[in-house]
Amino acid sequence: MRAAFVTKFGPPEVLQVREFPARDPAEGEVRIRTKAIGLNFADVMGRLGVYPGIPDPPFIPGIELSGVIDAVGQSVTSVKEGDRVFGFSPQGACAEQVCVSSDFVRPIPVMMSFEEGAAFGVTSFSAFHGLRTLANIQRGEKLLLHAAAGGVGTAALQLCREWGVEVFATASTKEKLEVAKNLGASHLVNYTSEDFVEAVRTKTHGYGIDVVMDSVGGRIFKRGWNLLAPMGRYVLYGFASVTGPRTLNKLKALRELISVPLIHPPSLVSRNRSLMGFNLYFLSHKTEYFRNMAEELFELYRKGALKPVMGATFPFERIAEAHAFLQSRRSIGKVVLVID
Ligand SMILES: NC(=O)c1ccc[n+]([C@@H]2O[C@H](COP(=O)([O-])OP(=O)(O)OC[C@H]3O[C@@H](n4cnc5c(N)ncnc54)[C@H](OP(=O)(O)O)[C@@H]3O)[C@@H](O)[C@H]2O)c1
Repeated sequence: MRAAFVTKFGPPEVLQVREFPARDPAEGEVRIRTKAIGLNFADVMGRLGVYPGIPDPPFIPGIELSGVIDAVGQSVTSVKEGDRVFGFSPQGACAEQVCVSSDFVRPIPVMMSFEEGAAFGVTSFSAFHGLRTLANIQRGEKLLLHAAAGGVGTAALQLCREWGVEVFATASTKEKLEVAKNLGASHLVNYTSEDFVEAVRTKTHGYGIDVVMDSVGGRIFKRGWNLLAPMGRYVLYGFASVTGPRTLNKLKALRELISVPLIHPPSLVSRNRSLMGFNLYFLSHKTEYFRNMAEELFELYRKGALKPVMGATFPFERIAEAHAFLQSRRSIGKVVLVID
């Protein structure tokens, strides 16, 4: 079979597709014949060597995929050979056959395509986990959503439309903001030309914001943090700002990181603010939580309320191009690799 490798940490060209032997599933695992692989910004960070827990190169990257189960290990009862599924893997998804714990695999709805299956999990789980489980967002509340037209952003917008949340969407281009508007965002801010703090203050008549979903981190943190209204919740779940257009810009990364203020816990009390963070990568042991979440999200998919926004698909062998595209900030929605 073919598998993609991160041959060393660096720009997209360090990715190479090579022949690699497939293996049989161990006890508790299934083997998936891969049809599509969802690309995540975490893959970019992993390739650059700045993702926590990333192995030393060479390694097979990729954390989510869809396909058909073609072999089942001992003691697996939840799925069977021939099932159309999506699955998660702590690295290793960028291959034509992938062995993964059956705990991390779920059948996908009949009408869901493999491309959608590969685009659905991380985006919608992240949006749901941040907005519902952590922030407990309520109908009528105001959300500031950064990177609103990205994979997670477009899933978050659809959940907010369903839940009646008023969204202030930020993105770097007019085209992206148009997508955010079509997915229900009430207010649009192009943060390359407008000050998002001023825009929010003006549009809310000084009230501020109830919840911030921030996957960009760095210097925007402080500004968003100060926008929180009493009972405001700040959900931090990514650091896209530390990356450069192709590689890691170490100086910029350092500048972004040191511009994040230190939070003094007693100040949370007196100002009624909460700071929360998450990384799904380190929550994989919460299998029942994710199973229940998947059911709820699939239900929204079936009723047409939540559908992955497919930004671009690339053939598997063009993985380096797909990475470059996602890192370039030009992508809208989800970038997916497909295998014939
Ligand atoms: N903690 C978790 O468990 C978890 C899970 C999933 C995703 N995430 C994080 O959530 C974010 C979204 O993930 P995604 O896979 O859906 O990616 P994405 O949003 O489709 O793409 C990343 C977006 O981040 C914005 N961005 C801001 N500064 C950037 C920079 N310096 N370089 C590149 N992009 C920059 C860009 O949108 P604009 O140009 O419009 O600003 C870009 O399109 C990522 O930061 C990711 O690491 C975290």
